[in-house]
Amino acid sequence: MDRRIVVVDDERIILELTSMILRSKGYQVFTAENAGDGMALIEKERPAVVLLDYMMPSMDGLTALRKIRGAYPDTYVMMFTGKGSEEIAVELMKAGASDYILKPFNNQDLVDRLENVLRIRTIELHNRELREERERLLYEIEQWNLELERRVEEKSRELEKAHAEIVQGEKLAALGHLSAGMAHEIRNPLNTISLFMQLLMNGMEAGSELFTYADKALKEVGRIDDLLIRLLAASKRPQYELHMVSVAAIIERTLDAFSEQIKAYGVTLHKEFVSEPAPILADATELEQVFNNVIANALYEMQQGGTLGLRLSHDAEAIHVAVSDTGRGIARENVNQIFDPFYTTKAKGTGFGLSVVLRIVKTYGGRISVDSAPGQGTVFHIQLPLE
Ligand SMILES: Nc1ncnc2c1ncn2[C@@H]1O[C@H](COP(=O)(O)OP(=O)(O)OP(=O)(O)O)[C@@H](O)[C@H]1O
Ligand SMILES: [Mg+2]
Repeated sequence: MDRRIVVVDDERIILELTSMILRSKGYQVFTAENAGDGMALIEKERPAVVLLDYMMPSMDGLTALRKIRGAYPDTYVMMFTGKGSEEIAVELMKAGASDYILKPFNNQDLVDRLENVLRIRTIELHNRELREERERLLYEIEQWNLELERRVEEKSRELEKAHAEIVQGEKLAALGHLSAGMAHEIRNPLNTISLFMQLLMNGMEAGSELFTYADKALKEVGRIDDLLIRLLAASKRPQYELHMVSVAAIIERTLDAFSEQIKAYGVTLHKEFVSEPAPILADATELEQVFNNVIANALYEMQQGGTLGLRLSHDAEAIHVAVSDTGRGIARENVNQIFDPFYTTKAKGTGFGLSVVLRIVKTYGGRISVDSAPGQGTVFHIQLPLE
C-alpha cells in the first residue's frame, strides 16, 4: 500500500508534530510550509494522501483542495480546520475532501482517520480499475460481435450465391436431358406431318382457299421445329472444335461485329484490358456466342445511349471478364430467372440468349454471375478457368 503522505501547513510545530507521529507509524512524510511549495511537492511525490491546512495566508485551503483533486484524482485530501468551522467542513467535503480533523487534534485520532482514508482510497482505486477493465472487456466483446456478424453475413452471402449456382446448374442439366429427348421425339412426327402436308398441297390448286390453310399449317409446323432446334441448342452442345484461343482476341472480334450498332445507339465503349491472359483451349465460336449474347443484351438496354464496359483481367486460376451497361437494370425478383430458357421481357426475344451463355460457361468449368442495380445498370461477371 502506498504510504506516502504530504503535509501542508504554515505552522512549523504542526508539521513537526504530524511528521513525528506518522513516521513512527511507518509513513513516508514530506512537508511544505505554504500552498505553493505544497503543490510542487505533490507534483513531484504523487502522495496517497495530503494533509492540508484550511487556514493558510498564501492560498485558501478550499482553492488548494480543488486544485489537488482536479489535477491528481489518485491523491486523497484530509483537511485541518480550526474549531467552530463545521459549516466550512461541509463545503470541504463537497469539494472533494475525504475527511477533516479539528485542530488541535489527538494523535491517535489523526492516525485512525488517516488509515481510514487510505483504506477507502485503496478500495475506490481498485473499484475504478475493475470498472475500467469491465468497460474495456465490454468494448472488446462488442467489437467481436460486430466482427462475428460481419463474418456470418459474408458466409451467408457466399452460401446464397453457391446455392443459386447449384440450382441453375441443376435446372440446366434437367432441361438438357428432357429437351434433348423431347425434341427428338417430337421432331419425328413433326417431320411426318410436314411431309404429308406437302403431299396434300401438291394435289391442291396453288392459291386456292384450301391451299392457303395448308400453307399456314405448314408454316406453324416449321415454327415448332424452329423452337425445338433452339431448345436443343440451349441445352446440348453442338459440334465443336477445340483450339488454343485468346479471349482478348475473341472479345475484340465480337466488339467489331457490334461497332455499327454501338455508333448508331450513341453508346460509349469503355474497354479496359487490365491484363492479357494466356490462350485457353476452347471452341472460338462458342466463346464468341457467350460475349455476343451478353453484349447484345447490354446494347438492347442502351438504345438511347449509355456506356458499354468491357473489362478483361486474370489471376493465377481464371480469366475474368466483366460486361457492364448503364441500362435499366434487372429487378431483384427476376434475377434468378434470367438464365432460364424462354424467360424474356422483350416483345421479340426468345429468352434463349443467356441460357446458351450459361451452358457454354459451364461446359468450360467457368462461372457467371450478375450484379444489377435497377435504374442504374447491370454487370455480368464471367470467369473462365485457365487450366
Ligand atoms: N443487360 C441486361 N439488362 C437488363 N436486363 C437484362 C440484361 N440482360 C438480360 N436481361 C434480362 O434477361 C432476359 C433474358 O435474357 P436472354 O438473353 O436470355 O433473352 P432475351 O434477350 O430476352 O432474348 P434473346 O436473347 O433470345 O433475343 C431479358 O429478356 C432481360 O429481361
Ligand atoms: Mg438476349
